[in-house]
Amino acid sequence: MLVLGLETSCDETAAAVVEDGRRVLSDVVSTQVDIHRRWGGVVPELASRNHIVQVMPVVHEALTRADKTLDDIDLLAVTSGPGLIGALLVGLQVAKGLSLATGKPFVGANHLEGHLLAIRLLEDAPAPPFLGLVVSGGHTSLYEVRDYGNYRLVGRTRDDAAGEAYDKTARILGLPYPGGQPIDELAQKGDPEAIRFPRALPGDNLDVSFSGLKTSVLHHVQKHGVPEGQALHDLCASFQEAVADVLSKKLVAAAKKLGHNQLVLCGGVAANSRLRALCKQRAEERGLRMFLPPVRLCTDNGAMIAVAGYEAWRRGLRGDFRLAADPAWRME
Ligand code: KG4
Ligand code: ZN
Repeated sequence: MLVLGLETSCDETAAAVVEDGRRVLSDVVSTQVDIHRRWGGVVPELASRNHIVQVMPVVHEALTRADKTLDDIDLLAVTSGPGLIGALLVGLQVAKGLSLATGKPFVGANHLEGHLLAIRLLEDAPAPPFLGLVVSGGHTSLYEVRDYGNYRLVGRTRDDAAGEAYDKTARILGLPYPGGQPIDELAQKGDPEAIRFPRALPGDNLDVSFSGLKTSVLHHVQKHGVPEGQALHDLCASFQEAVADVLSKKLVAAAKKLGHNQLVLCGGVAANSRLRALCKQRAEERGLRMFLPPVRLCTDNGAMIAVAGYEAWRRGLRGDFRLAADPAWRME
């Protein structure tokens, strides 16, 4: 079964062709970061307008690279939530339009389920049940994946998402948006123990919190000024260590508490080098298996939506022309 996945929930216009929910034939991502960077974050109206410009060329490119035409496609899968309403509507209306024009069926996919199921594209993907930590710009949520389509939220951030903490910290430091990658790169040459930033592990539950960490960075900069040179490397490494420490601790604690031995990390922040390394290390120390999607599949892409759409289709979900975008769609 050939699925065309379409993703326009935030600032990436993406399309991919995936076979049987497992094999990527093409995966095209057109990012708008250069447009939003000057505003220091995603401007929803600009995102929608640029999706309109980019979406058909991106779909065309995905089909071309897969050496397929719309005729070959069996199912259109599109992110219908959660995300920015105007941005979601672009992808959804395109999917409906293509469906109407070609007679091919379509299905709405959940963006977070897409992040979680991107791991299906690994050759030795875990079979459910597993624990999946989604760490992105908008979410930091821990799910028990009991089966495809059967998810239980077991922990989440009380305030900022991990990616949001990165992006806000980058802003404080005068680094470009989105802040994850620049901080990750600067941290490579820094001392993670230079500054002891707080680790908020609220209680014995599986929630996390990042707003205190961001405020600590702000206080540090107010006191010492925006760091340069080695001091900047050190601050980035110390910040990154705090994020990775908290998330990896909670993940392995959750595995113990809920009796899981397979762990998945996903979402844009799962591209982070230190978080990947520490999760892997702590999981292995406890005899748990840590599954990490390749970095390219961590940030938003169409392939993960094709997988989520394929699984939703197999569960019997069908899109109809009344399907509405749901900016706050909860998966559980
Ligand atoms: O999943 P994603 O592409 O979009 C959302 O669904 O939000 O995640 C984007 C987030 C941004 O906050 C970005 O700063 C962060 O992922 N990110 C990273 C890295 N690469 C992207 N955070 C930490 N380290 C990275 N290497
Ligand atoms: Zn995402």
